[in-house]
Amino acid sequence: MPGELGKERSGLGERIRRLIHREGPIPFDRFMEMALYDPDGGYFASGPLRSRAEGDFLTSPETSGEFGATLARFVGQEFRRLGRPAGFTLLEVGAGSGTLLSPLLGALDWTPRTVALEASPAARQVLRQALPVVEVVPDRREPDRFRGVVIANEVVDNLPVAIAVRAEDGGWSERRVWSEGADLVLVEAPARPEVLAWLEAHAADVPAGGVVECQPAASDWMGRMIDLLEAGAVVVIDYGDTSEGLLPRRRRGGTLRTYRAHHLSRHPLDEPGSMDITADVDFSALARVASDRGMHTRLCRQDEFLSGLGLSARREELRRRELAEARGGDPIERLRLRSMVKEIDTLLHPRGFGDFRVLVATR
Ligand SMILES: C[S@@+](CC[C@H](N)C(=O)[O-])C[C@H]1O[C@@H](n2cnc3c(N)ncnc32)[C@H](O)[C@@H]1O
Repeated sequence: MPGELGKERSGLGERIRRLIHREGPIPFDRFMEMALYDPDGGYFASGPLRSRAEGDFLTSPETSGEFGATLARFVGQEFRRLGRPAGFTLLEVGAGSGTLLSPLLGALDWTPRTVALEASPAARQVLRQALPVVEVVPDRREPDRFRGVVIANEVVDNLPVAIAVRAEDGGWSERRVWSEGADLVLVEAPARPEVLAWLEAHAADVPAGGVVECQPAASDWMGRMIDLLEAGAVVVIDYGDTSEGLLPRRRRGGTLRTYRAHHLSRHPLDEPGSMDITADVDFSALARVASDRGMHTRLCRQDEFLSGLGLSARREELRRRELAEARGGDPIERLRLRSMVKEIDTLLHPRGFGDFRVLVATR
């Protein structure tokens, strides 16, 4: 019920204000952790399913089943590369409503052990109903080590970020969240050592006035995912770029933003728990974690990655069939094929999903 939800969210805001009164200004990543993951009011950890057509954002797997079906080819390649091991496991982190796993499993002619690690209780419920063969577990319950593939689509952009601002003297300050009356506001404070270490490694070239979302939580997450693998691959798909590619966006004030009902929403401090908070992923930082652990890494665009797995060829085949139906065939089938072609175009659009990055780390 909207009323109850509203009460819960204002409860979260009040708890954040009490925390600030007790401890002083809190780092932005601590605020973001609570706003997204607090079990009682966090955007993902409470409330309804977020990734769906009528929700706050639309993702590649929600756009077309061809996304999951194409990733099935990657999973098949890894299965063969590893010598078809017994217990081969597919782990999807942030599986949402199952729109990636469902066509992926449907496209395989064998069934891997499949685990969905999901922060949202509402999504876990949907997943259990839609995909009874999948082990659905909360985000804090990672499985034992396995041989297989980890996939995370549009999850890492939600992991909490600290915000740093480059000073005129070349140093850094860090934005913290402070409470002024009923409002939460950002204030600047000296940057913490762990934030400085991250900046040194990944944002050394940012000029004065630049704003950087520092992502040590994403690096920790990447390390944990790699450590789960005896052998296999971690595939991270998201918006973002290399540290170098992010430089112009950092110069212009950073990439932190919020979403609600498919639109950019308000300031991230407004109504904690009511909006998706997200930032572009620094893929250089994630790749560094992987290479430091001896993994082979490949970073490419989503359009390249999917085309390399046969999606462009699949589009051409569907288009040929559509044109054949247009020559006196079944008009309903023609429309169905046409909409599949359009959905694939959306997945490959060079300024849309096609511009997402894919990091594949293998061992
Ligand atoms: C933007 S949605 C993407 C859902 C799905 N991967 C897709 O592409 O449609 C992010 C999903 O990841 C979940 N999530 C966010 N952070 C997570 C985390 N740290 N561990 C596991 N799941 C997480 C959310 O509950 C949500 O279902």
